[in-house]
Amino acid sequence: MKAAWFERSGKAGDVLIVGDRKKPDPGQGEVRVRLYASGVNPSDVKKRAGFQPAGLDLTGFVIPHSDGAGVIEEVGAGVAQSRIGERVWVYQAQYQRHQGTAAEYVCLPQQTAVRLPDQADFSIGACIGIPIMTAHRCVFADGDIKGKTILVTGASGRVGHYAVQWAKLFGARVIGTAGNKHRCQLAKDSGADHVFSYKETDLADQIMQVTDGEGVDRIVEVEFGDNIETSCQVLKTSGTIASYSSSRDPEPVLPFYQMMFNNITVKTVLVYNMPEEAKRHAIQDIWRALENGQLIHRIARRYSLNDIAGAHEAIEEGGMDGCVVVDIE
Ligand SMILES: NC(=O)c1ccc[n+]([C@@H]2O[C@H](COP(=O)([O-])OP(=O)(O)OC[C@H]3O[C@@H](n4cnc5c(N)ncnc54)[C@H](OP(=O)(O)O)[C@@H]3O)[C@@H](O)[C@H]2O)c1
Repeated sequence: MKAAWFERSGKAGDVLIVGDRKKPDPGQGEVRVRLYASGVNPSDVKKRAGFQPAGLDLTGFVIPHSDGAGVIEEVGAGVAQSRIGERVWVYQAQYQRHQGTAAEYVCLPQQTAVRLPDQADFSIGACIGIPIMTAHRCVFADGDIKGKTILVTGASGRVGHYAVQWAKLFGARVIGTAGNKHRCQLAKDSGADHVFSYKETDLADQIMQVTDGEGVDRIVEVEFGDNIETSCQVLKTSGTIASYSSSRDPEPVLPFYQMMFNNITVKTVLVYNMPEEAKRHAIQDIWRALENGQLIHRIARRYSLNDIAGAHEAIEEGGMDGCVVVDIE
């Protein structure tokens, strides 16, 4: 099969190889998916670059990318034959495994290949596993959100874009933040009720103003360390921060007593190992939302498998107005 892989970590252009590999056979409980699209996310490029464990020690090569979409072509023992021919989106293909979705075929446990509604094309299916599921977990990590006010920081980002939409879809009022005028407009287009620049020094005042001095119930946080001071100023008593990243300040100092006096809860979220029940909840909601066309999707760039290095570089560059997808012909 045609595939891309790396045998050592390093710069995309130096280490990514495109060529032929043996087509994998599905084991017990697995399905083999003929992939048509592979999603690229920051964690995929961090693994390739060597910033996060990639699993190179397992076999000496890694086919990157956790997200993808395609059609089930073969099933292993214990999997219903009726799944053959099913259109699916896949998640966690390269989490603690070395064969991801940057290939014509992937074999993976059948529960990580989820039926994709006919309305959603494969490029959308390739953006579900990390961006849409992370956003879902962050929004619902603390239960029902109807009538709540939720602050989504980085509302213009891949995850933020979907966090805004989940929150609106389930009845919350949403305040977003973004980095410039264009990115603020993107967050508004996603449905945020108010959007402010996170670069403004009076951000907390602006948030308190639009909430009539009450503040927000929950925060979906992309830069935990950078924003903890503002978060403490705008969170209501017993508010929750669900954070999926703190890349600019990975070891932040916490204003403990300010947080304690306000009963603030911090929930960290890693999409790969979020509770199974939360995954099932997300999968159900994703099915309904896709079937009813309730989510807006943004594919910022598409690449061929031959140009997978370009796709990795685009993610590293940042500032993409949406997901980056590698098409597998
Ligand atoms: N824990 C998990 O399971 C999980 C899942 C997915 C992603 N992640 C991580 O989350 C991060 C974002 O991923 P992504 O794919 O959504 O990336 P992305 O599309 O590049 O989005 C990053 C967003 O962060 C915003 N931002 C930067 N500094 C900010 C600040 N100080 N305050 C508020 N917003 C700020 C950016 O806003 P502007 O561009 O408007 O300036 C941008 O919208 C990455 O580090 C990724 O590895 C973690």
